[in-house]
Amino acid sequence: METVDDSFLSTLAYRPVITHAKAHRIGVIGAGRIAQQRQIPCYRNAGLEVVAAADVKQEALDRAAENFGITRGYLDYRDLLAQPDIDIVDICTNTFPRKQITLDALAARKHVLSEKPFARNYADAVEIVEAADASGVQLAVHQPTRWYYPCAIARELIMKGYLGDVFYIELRMHGNQDTIYYEDPVTRWHTELKDHIFVEWGAHHFDLCRWFAGGETPRHISAFGTVRGNEHFKSKMAVSASCDYASGIVGCVSMDQASRFPRVGNTRIGMNFRVEGTQGVVAGDMVFDLAFESRINGGISGQFDFSQPLSKEEDPFGYMWCASVRDGHLWPMAELIRSIHTGEKGLCSGRDNLHSVASYLAAMKSDELHRPVGPEEIVQGLA
Ligand SMILES: NC(=O)c1ccc[n+]([C@@H]2O[C@H](COP(=O)([O-])OP(=O)(O)OC[C@H]3O[C@@H](n4cnc5c(N)ncnc54)[C@H](O)[C@@H]3O)[C@@H](O)[C@H]2O)c1
Repeated sequence: METVDDSFLSTLAYRPVITHAKAHRIGVIGAGRIAQQRQIPCYRNAGLEVVAAADVKQEALDRAAENFGITRGYLDYRDLLAQPDIDIVDICTNTFPRKQITLDALAARKHVLSEKPFARNYADAVEIVEAADASGVQLAVHQPTRWYYPCAIARELIMKGYLGDVFYIELRMHGNQDTIYYEDPVTRWHTELKDHIFVEWGAHHFDLCRWFAGGETPRHISAFGTVRGNEHFKSKMAVSASCDYASGIVGCVSMDQASRFPRVGNTRIGMNFRVEGTQGVVAGDMVFDLAFESRINGGISGQFDFSQPLSKEEDPFGYMWCASVRDGHLWPMAELIRSIHTGEKGLCSGRDNLHSVASYLAAMKSDELHRPVGPEEIVQGLA
């Protein structure tokens, strides 16, 4: 079996390619944590121009001016939408005001990148997708986890046939957001969300399950969550879900954000995955590393570590961690810009995301009804 090195990675499309960087002017609505600590620095690193920000809080606009020299700040997002030079709007508020902001941005004929979760219910997601089609602009959803290097490489290996027929997808997450978000007054509001684990986290993991399954949506999802009474969140914070695919794939999504002991021994805290196929396997941490083995091409294997931290200059707020995260957060914008120029729907289009929304809502409904629920039942409004 041949062990491949970095030259093999260069045959895979796992790094975003930005075209027409200078042809667009981006306005960010919701200049909070994700906007200032990930999106804006990673766009600027790629040569994109973020020219304005809108936020209901003056201090957020002040920070955008101080951190990035973005002096065009608006307390009312509609003033940003009225700017004729801005053609792309990145909506980084939380989900609650986002639907109306997105509809207004689409009506103003701006191309839109929406933060995840795209929607908390299916009807809202459909309304937004139809509004984008009616306006003739492109709509994309920010799903960076798909493109953290290990996940992007795994997807390339899958799509290029290195794993043969995929039959097993496992996604696992261990953390203690239940305590960390409760103790921080800035993030404490999340504890009130009854749908937090399914909607906020499910938006990553059920989407990633589809990504590794080549875009296929499960037929049914059986999910169960538990509470022990010591949690701070109103949402269940420890959940297991099984996904049954018509093609024969089985998917396991395990989300635990109630752990009081997330790091045990030398284990990495966070999110990891494993995808098995008839000809190979790929496994790793979703952000930092991966290993794979394949019987294709005479047998190859490889192991890659992406945990090298970015410099303080590249990651001024210590929230981007490494190039894998920086480039993962750039990909959805790269896809949006590609779709603007080709007229094709991007890989993370709003229409594609309807399947991910239906999947995480099906999982939540399954937990509630104690039976398997198909995403199709969510689409039909039957569950
Ligand atoms: N993809 C990821 O890895 C990732 C990570 C963190 C957060 N997120 C998502 O990003 C979104 C924002 O999270 P955050 O942690 O940055 O939150 P945040 O609260 O730090 O930032 C949101 C900002 O939106 C502003 N805002 C609220 N209502 C507004 C309105 N009507 N008009 C203009 N601005 C408004 C707030 O004042 C705030 O500054 C959430 O949906 C979250 O799920 C994604």
